[in-house]
Amino acid sequence: MDEKEAQKEILRLRREINYHNYRYYVLDSPVVTDAEYDRMLRRLEGLEARFPGLIAPDSPTRRVGAAPLSAFGTIRHTTPMLSLGNAFTQEEAREFDDRIKRLLKCATGTKIEYAAEPKMDGLAVELIYEDGVFTKGSTRGDGYTGEDVTQNLRTVRAIPLNLLPAIRDTGVKPPAYIEVRGEVFLPLAAFRKVNKEREARGEPLFANPRNAAAGSLRQLDPRVTAERPLDIFCYGVGMVEGASFKTHFESLEYIRALGLKVNPMVRVVEGIDAALEYHDTVEKKREGLGYELDGVVIKVNGLALQERLGTLTRSPRWALAYKFAPRQESTTVKDIIVGVGRTGALTPVAVLEPISVGGVTIERATLHNLDEVERKDVRVGDTVVVQRAGDVIPEIAGVLKERRPRGKELEQFRMPDKCPECGSTVERVGALHFCTAGLLCPAQLKESIRHFASKRAMDIEGLGAMHVDQFVDAGVVKDVADLYYLKKEKILKLERWAEKSADNLLNAIDKSKRPALERLIYGLGIRGVGEHMARVLADRFGDLKSLMEATIEELLETYEIGPETAQSIVDFFRERHNREVIRKLEDAGVAFPKKTREKRGTLAGKVFLFTGTLESFSRDEAKALVEAEGAEGATGVSKKVDYVVAGAEPGSKYEKAKEMGLKIIDEDEFKKMVGRQA
Ligand code: IVH
Repeated sequence: MDEKEAQKEILRLRREINYHNYRYYVLDSPVVTDAEYDRMLRRLEGLEARFPGLIAPDSPTRRVGAAPLSAFGTIRHTTPMLSLGNAFTQEEAREFDDRIKRLLKCATGTKIEYAAEPKMDGLAVELIYEDGVFTKGSTRGDGYTGEDVTQNLRTVRAIPLNLLPAIRDTGVKPPAYIEVRGEVFLPLAAFRKVNKEREARGEPLFANPRNAAAGSLRQLDPRVTAERPLDIFCYGVGMVEGASFKTHFESLEYIRALGLKVNPMVRVVEGIDAALEYHDTVEKKREGLGYELDGVVIKVNGLALQERLGTLTRSPRWALAYKFAPRQESTTVKDIIVGVGRTGALTPVAVLEPISVGGVTIERATLHNLDEVERKDVRVGDTVVVQRAGDVIPEIAGVLKERRPRGKELEQFRMPDKCPECGSTVERVGALHFCTAGLLCPAQLKESIRHFASKRAMDIEGLGAMHVDQFVDAGVVKDVADLYYLKKEKILKLERWAEKSADNLLNAIDKSKRPALERLIYGLGIRGVGEHMARVLADRFGDLKSLMEATIEELLETYEIGPETAQSIVDFFRERHNREVIRKLEDAGVAFPKKTREKRGTLAGKVFLFTGTLESFSRDEAKALVEAEGAEGATGVSKKVDYVVAGAEPGSKYEKAKEMGLKIIDEDEFKKMVGRQA
């Protein structure tokens, strides 16, 4: 295929893929299978790798892989991104309606036409499309200037890189220029998953999905953003060239026709009564949506009327956020118990007088760690305010100190110095306390087996938490490898097992013997190694044996591995017990697969060495750039190095490379190779 044919095919594939992306992420109604979609994407990747000159920033292959930044640029909003006045009660909402009618000098009995919308609880962004292509995206910032988060927004699949009329004949032309405003959010399922992973790594948890969305979007490394399945609903239009509207609702219909995602619950209602009813209807649906709402937004629908009403400094007079009642209640703390997790981390949990919060009964709330208990000063006997953050995880918002019984001192919580599960010594590491018994502690053992068998690790179907408890308590499973030595007769001796269920379980265990390398690594439960890190390690080391023998220095050579994780990996494999378990796994016939390095990207398989000071990038940035294109950064001069990139004042490595006759390039040449020419 020559370049011209490739160009044609690439354009066709991009349109096709973009369209299927729209069907999947915006309409939620795909018309091809995942496999077909993947095939198209692979084919496009292949062609772009062969003809790197044809790569364009709006290609669907470019969603991920942009290099980390050292800081965000700023973008000035052409029209300010305002915030909204709030109402918490029906009276306040009626006052808003009265004020509007007064300002517009309406005859008594007039009903104002409102657009009524769910108020998503995320982070406001502005997307700019020029001739149908997504060119810039920013956060709200202070309303006038926001941060340039274009690369991160590109990773959000529900944000089209090309507007629909630019990829399909829809009978309309894409506007020459349009600013679209919307709310980026993290769906609840993804929020829970992110927090679970953070917990496993001992990292601080996000308090709610909004913080998680903000943390994900305001990431200097777009690859981290790409791993969080952010979503968006668009709710407004800023400046636009090539289209005009009479009502706000019309503008939403217009952007919907452009392929942007608009919340399906948006309505036009007549008069405030209907708007109040809308509020109540949406509040009832709130639980089942899979994402957080914190109220509804009521907007005067007519744009001419909006114009007449005008805006105050920070918020328009024509719109109102009518919030839902906060899901908070007060109750008393009956006890503070301490649980032990997979990594041995001790977690204080408040046992509460059961209370219903927004229809869900809450009996426990996590207190995360000792610092948190001390900061909030929660004590047994206290009256506390509990809230449901992110819809699920109950949390203690604060203590009602004035309700503390007078004259009777409540005892301060103390972390036990012995593990509540096994009695071993407890050790403090940073904010966390750990049981030091490792897998000899039955609580840790159970959690680690559950983790090993879980869907995203070895995926042993049908091995539930209760079974794990049963096997460990009966002493038939003492480590994860024992699962592969389970005998049917032994299982049948335990309560509630029958021929059929035992057969099913043994089959499932057998089926799990050929895991992908990253799942096996993740399943081992190394502290600091979540799913993402497991993938990084699998890519970098290719098989378990090489990873087991890796030194700290070798681990640190990989861009994403920090000193703490490197240490924890080395410690894990140094531990005799762990090596023993791995040997037992191998003996039982668990395959230790190899992973071939991903040969994707324009620089696939190449090795780069940097020496001297580069003008436009830090060493880490340059390394990340080549890694994003499938290449690798080296730390020393060797024959494996394909390119030595020499910046200003290169050191001894430069001399050595020259001696060895390696290919040396300067910063300009390097920039061309990674598509960063000025
Ligand atoms: S309209 C001038 N509509 O709420 C109108 N905002 O408190 C400004 N939000 O910054 C915003 N859903 O982040 C609007 N349907 C919706 C919204 C919405 C969520 C957020 C947005 C805004 C904040 C204002």
